[in-house]
Amino acid sequence: MIRIDASIPRAQETAQLFDDPLGFLARARAALGDVFVIREEKALLSRAADCAGVIAVFGAANHQAVLTDAELFRQPISAAQHISLPQTLINLNRGLHSMQGAQHDQHQRLLMNVLSDRSNEGRRELVQTGLEQFVTGWKYDQQIFLLAEMRRLMLALSTRLLFGEQYDESAQLATLAEQYFHARRAVASTFKAPDKGTRAKLISLGTSLDSGLRRYIHWSRKATGDGLLGTLTSLETLSDDELVAHSNVLFMSSLEPTAVTLTWAILILSQLPDLRRSLREDQSQLDGVINETLRLLTPNALMTRLTTRPTPLSSFPVPANCEILISPFLAHREPERFPRPNEFLPERWQGLKPSPFVYFPFGGGAHYCAGRSLATYMIKTSLAFLLQRFDPVLAFDQEIDWKIDIVLLPVNDPVMSLRRPESTPVVGGKLIGPVRELIKLKS
Ligand code: HEM
Repeated sequence: MIRIDASIPRAQETAQLFDDPLGFLARARAALGDVFVIREEKALLSRAADCAGVIAVFGAANHQAVLTDAELFRQPISAAQHISLPQTLINLNRGLHSMQGAQHDQHQRLLMNVLSDRSNEGRRELVQTGLEQFVTGWKYDQQIFLLAEMRRLMLALSTRLLFGEQYDESAQLATLAEQYFHARRAVASTFKAPDKGTRAKLISLGTSLDSGLRRYIHWSRKATGDGLLGTLTSLETLSDDELVAHSNVLFMSSLEPTAVTLTWAILILSQLPDLRRSLREDQSQLDGVINETLRLLTPNALMTRLTTRPTPLSSFPVPANCEILISPFLAHREPERFPRPNEFLPERWQGLKPSPFVYFPFGGGAHYCAGRSLATYMIKTSLAFLLQRFDPVLAFDQEIDWKIDIVLLPVNDPVMSLRRPESTPVVGGKLIGPVRELIKLKS
């Protein structure tokens, strides 16, 4: 067993890591500096066997070193591989995340081209119709569960954008992909091996999804499907297995982080009536609102990598097979980079362009998010549309807690009331509790 060098500072009271991971990391960082050991001899998030332990790493130069060299700091293997699921299910997760080297770079170029701003522009009408249809189900003064509704909205938009409107089975395929995503997440977020029933359900969903995606690819090759995945299918450089994997990973990636970001943005705005009104008149402030939401409540709160060989970080000797933990959540609150770091200040983004290793809600370096343009487009268009038609406020005072379950998300789903937009916006229920403690708001 490789031991972590004694010169690297050790965090104390590591039990707190599980109760309050972000608070624990912030306190340990303040006491110990940019590099410290959280755990010896055992992985935390990656399931790596024979892991030397876990080291937390801070500071833009360290973030850059870890995120840029994807061969030295590799992505952990997927849960599907770890629990030895059948090959079909392992293939479903073989998207860009799990690729390396020249193959990764070639596929990254292809995917980024398909998911570019140019592609989004051509799909403006499709998104607009999707939003119009979605809100036909919303009435003034109705109460909604915010995260559940944002998941439903992102499912509707992603289905149109990725599978297109011409494929008859788009909706069923999308629902199946979503079910598989939630079943897989339930397995991935616990370190226990799944019981027989859970495993059988996951295999059944994954096998159906694989067949469904293959039928879609077959149809799309013949019909030149109108969705983004149709464009990918027409490229002819990708095998069926590769197309299945990319389709699944892109579809899944387009759902949860976008739904969660919209949820956080609307929850914050529910506390800021003047800003809601001013956004209705001047949408140019939306970029600042989205950047600030992604700064303070970044879905990607923690990231992890595994060292493939010994390497120095801040001149400490880090061994091979060591889990490296990076926290964009805390990086985004560095007071030297973001003065008054805990305050929600959309106006701070006027003219601000932080380095991609200081502010990185979409990751940075080699595995930088391939869907960033699509994500910002979906979030911005949806937020603008919903705020024009509704004034969302908390239905009553609510204590909202948070958790990290792959992404940072609310534990209890905020209940919103959909008010009619008036010139004097309504002051709704107050946000209280743990989420409120993560952000300072001008009321
Ligand atoms: C707010 C929404 C989103 C957030 C916050 C987000 C965040 C991220 C982050 C942090 C990474 C890097 C992970 C790492 O390095 O370990 C990533 C990678 C990725 N994202 Fe996103 N993402 C979002 C939306 C999307 C969308 C809409 C798509 C596609 C439809 C997408 C596709 C991908 C892919 C394929 C990768 C892997 C890139 C690679 O490994 O080269 N993401 N995303």
